[in-house]
Amino acid sequence: MKVAVLGAAGGIGQALALLLKNNLPAGSELSLYDIAPVTPGVAADLSHIPTAVNVVGFGGEDPTPALTGADIVLISAGVARKPGMDRADLFNVNAGIVKNLIEKAAAACPQACIGIITNPVNTTVPIAAEVLKKAGVYNKNKLFGITTLDVIRAETFVAEAKGLNVSDVKVPVIGGHSGVTILPLLSQVEGASFSDEEIEKLTYRIQNAGTEVVEAKAGGGSATLSMGQAACRFALSLVKAMQGEANVVECTYVDGGSEHAVFFAQPVLLGKNGVEKVLPYGEISAFEQAAMDGMLETLRGDIQKGVEFVNQ
Ligand code: NAI
Repeated sequence: MKVAVLGAAGGIGQALALLLKNNLPAGSELSLYDIAPVTPGVAADLSHIPTAVNVVGFGGEDPTPALTGADIVLISAGVARKPGMDRADLFNVNAGIVKNLIEKAAAACPQACIGIITNPVNTTVPIAAEVLKKAGVYNKNKLFGITTLDVIRAETFVAEAKGLNVSDVKVPVIGGHSGVTILPLLSQVEGASFSDEEIEKLTYRIQNAGTEVVEAKAGGGSATLSMGQAACRFALSLVKAMQGEANVVECTYVDGGSEHAVFFAQPVLLGKNGVEKVLPYGEISAFEQAAMDGMLETLRGDIQKGVEFVNQ
């Protein structure tokens, strides 16, 4: 298995690379790329950890050497929001970065599964899809928006609120990956019941947990360590499924034939070729249905913005 991380010298990239170095199956290759000059140093640093995962680092303008032969590509390249930047600034910079990197991936590793971390995920994933379509290599089963951070936050907050063992808590999170488009299905949590007030508070906290971190870091960045863990969980699930393990399910933002929007996060059965089957998310409560109804215009708009960006 060759796993490439693009944006590997960043806050998320370094945490993710460390976790992958320690957790990928023996014999894997971890290929790191970033435009930051420190990248070969990050690779050298990680290479001193005694695990049977070979680490290689690449810098420069062209990610092709890092991508060639990759089975999985994880993209966290881009900028996180800084004081004085509005959303449009973030979109314009990151949209261009994702577009360029996907163009390179389409040429260097057209069969790879691609996981997008770079925000705004609701829009960068449709951008990736459009670029892959233009290159004639789009396979909707192999493109994922990584929304696992919403899932691990939901699991953590529910366990804390209810005094449960966090490793037993499962919370599907559907929709998209920003604000109101994040919809944790608390009605489906086994072994816990919530008052209406708790549901409202927990849902709001899960949707806005990123802001909690941004504010606590006081201008020093957004979630990197928890995101590194979330992306590692998703990547390891994908590796296991690609190597033939059965019943590997993660919530992820995919082009999966949803009735709600072209791209929609929901539970997905992973397999040897990426998406094996998009699973139904099951019954939802009246509160969740109202939240779903309230998010769709935003989510569809975010998707449309990505499509237009590539085809403008
Ligand atoms: P960071 O600024 O620490 O790292 C970004 C890295 O990308 C830097 O090392 C930079 O040199 C690199 N980079 C920029 N342009 C590049 C290019 N063209 N090719 C290769 N590398 C390039 O930012 P951080 O905190 O790691 O966040 C990265 C992205 O992840 C941001 O867009 C952020 O909004 C997003 N994010 C996504 C989350 C999710 O749940 N999906 C959660 C948290 C952040």
